[in-house]
Amino acid sequence: MKTISVFGVFVADLCFISNAIPEKGQTILGSQHIIGPGGKGSNQAIAAAKLNGSVNFISKIGKDKNGEMALTLYKELGINTACIIQDENHSTGVAGIMVNEKTGENAINIIPGAAGTLTHNDIEKNLNLITKAEIFLTQLETPYEVTSYVLKKAKVKGLATILNPAPACKIKNDDFKLIDFFTPNETEAEFYLNKKIETEKDIKNASEEFLKKGIKNIVITLGERGCYFANKKENFFLEAFKLKDPVLDTTGAGDAFNGALAVGLSKDLQIKEVLTFANKVAAISTTKQGAAASMPSLEDIKSY
Ligand code: RIB
Repeated sequence: MKTISVFGVFVADLCFISNAIPEKGQTILGSQHIIGPGGKGSNQAIAAAKLNGSVNFISKIGKDKNGEMALTLYKELGINTACIIQDENHSTGVAGIMVNEKTGENAINIIPGAAGTLTHNDIEKNLNLITKAEIFLTQLETPYEVTSYVLKKAKVKGLATILNPAPACKIKNDDFKLIDFFTPNETEAEFYLNKKIETEKDIKNASEEFLKKGIKNIVITLGERGCYFANKKENFFLEAFKLKDPVLDTTGAGDAFNGALAVGLSKDLQIKEVLTFANKVAAISTTKQGAAASMPSLEDIKSY
């Protein structure tokens, strides 16, 4: 099986669960408080490892309790930690997450902490190991210039690159050409194209525009409507996986999708099969609370 290098952020998620997400200026009484592992990069690495992917995670954490939480988890899951820098001058990041227990929706504020201080030099030192993999997966929570740098290195070395543009932030025109798989949700796609994307026609047109920017394959995730795939040869919609359980918490569903996408690609499956698998993994992750804690194992997926 091919190895997946995941570059991104680990943070401790402080989740506040209640029957609503507070409005501006409002105070509400919640029902539950959970502290658990989060950060999009880390969630994606964990999702891939739980699906038996071979994973190398590249990040920076602090020398503190939250950093230890990450390392213990990676050890349990067999994630390669050789490219994780522990920095005693910075704390591991945190995220505040408000979850609506009735709908599973959330609102997130993330402080990347130590991972926000990653530099080109940190990448250079670990470049051999990062590019020894066949697949490279990243997001936009790490400093953009560093993400752009490592994406370019991965592409030049011939890795298949996946960019999950979350949270959406400006991408340099030249960087679009480095992306083999681009996986925005509808809101992120709207950000890049600066227009509303609602109908099937909007989604198709948006994908065409992304392909014109030089991206090889585009996957727009559509939540409960599934996803849309397009490249120069084919395009199709795929329905979401139908759950038999209620949606509890959608935090990390996009990460579950991206981790599963990387694993599917690492097994050289056909793209429809890969995306059907990723849809199922993402859907099942919403039936449990938490981000990394909700990632299903391969056994969970097979038996669901
Ligand atoms: O995608 C969900 C993640 O976004 C959370 O775990 C939070 O830490 C933020 O990074």
